[in-house]
Amino acid sequence: MTYLIEVKNLSKSFRSFEAVKDLSLHVEQGECLAILGPNGAGKTTTFEMLEGLLKPDSGEILLFGKTWDKDRSEILSRIGVQLQETSLYKRFTVRETLELFGSFYKQRKPIKELLELVDLSDKMDVELRKLSGGQKQRVYIAAALINDPELIFLDEPTTGLDPLARRGVWNIINNLKKEGVGILLSTHHMEEAEYLASRIVILDSGKIIAQGTSKELIEKFSGGEKVTVRHGTLEDVFLNLTGKELANV
Ligand SMILES: Nc1ncnc2c1ncn2[C@@H]1O[C@H](COP(=O)(O)OP(=O)(O)OP(=O)(O)O)[C@@H](O)[C@H]1O
Ligand SMILES: [Mg+2]
Repeated sequence: MTYLIEVKNLSKSFRSFEAVKDLSLHVEQGECLAILGPNGAGKTTTFEMLEGLLKPDSGEILLFGKTWDKDRSEILSRIGVQLQETSLYKRFTVRETLELFGSFYKQRKPIKELLELVDLSDKMDVELRKLSGGQKQRVYIAAALINDPELIFLDEPTTGLDPLARRGVWNIINNLKKEGVGILLSTHHMEEAEYLASRIVILDSGKIIAQGTSKELIEKFSGGEKVTVRHGTLEDVFLNLTGKELANV
């Protein structure tokens, strides 16, 4: 089987600082893989290498079994990348923004359909600067979906959102999973990884320190010998592995 993403022994340093060290992972068809890690763990660096924006120092990246070097335009047509807020022109309306992004691709999803998916049909003609943080986040996700991609990259899609807005993004991600879209997601939130992802990779200081399903991680690392009524959680896994205080995560 060809994986959507296959990464082998990826490393990246900024001068002498090793941001990503010997990272290997894969994402299967229609799977949501979460990369869970604190600030500075190397999540965005990893995403940018996978998205073809940053050149790794060493290692191999295959998307759909293809390489950025040989198959750049094919890969670009098959992936969706969530944008950062600063990349968008705030006086464009939602519709204009999506039309602009649609113009980059031959294959486009109808804007009406996308706005229904992200629950923004009533904001089609509103300028981005007049949207709330959660609404803007949903526009960025819609923009990542304009070319009907088979794989999308969501780097911290819920950071800064209130619990309700976060739930809205979770619903969108669950709907994408149902449609068979593969998702690479990064997050600081353990419950988000647990809720959305079929497998979780825990990254700390550029290295994978654990990976598996949330059940496997909890069984292995949450401290099985504890005699408490509380069930182990992914939070326990993370704190046991990193020795970090929750306040720093
Ligand atoms: N262009 C750069 N030049 C120098 N150092 C960098 C650069 N980009 C990232 N780093 C460093 O690499 C490390 C990993 O950064 P990265 O942005 O990948 O972390 P992250 O896991 O995405 O963190 P966050 O949760 O805060 O988004 C950090 O220590 C950061 O300072
Ligand atoms: Mg980041």
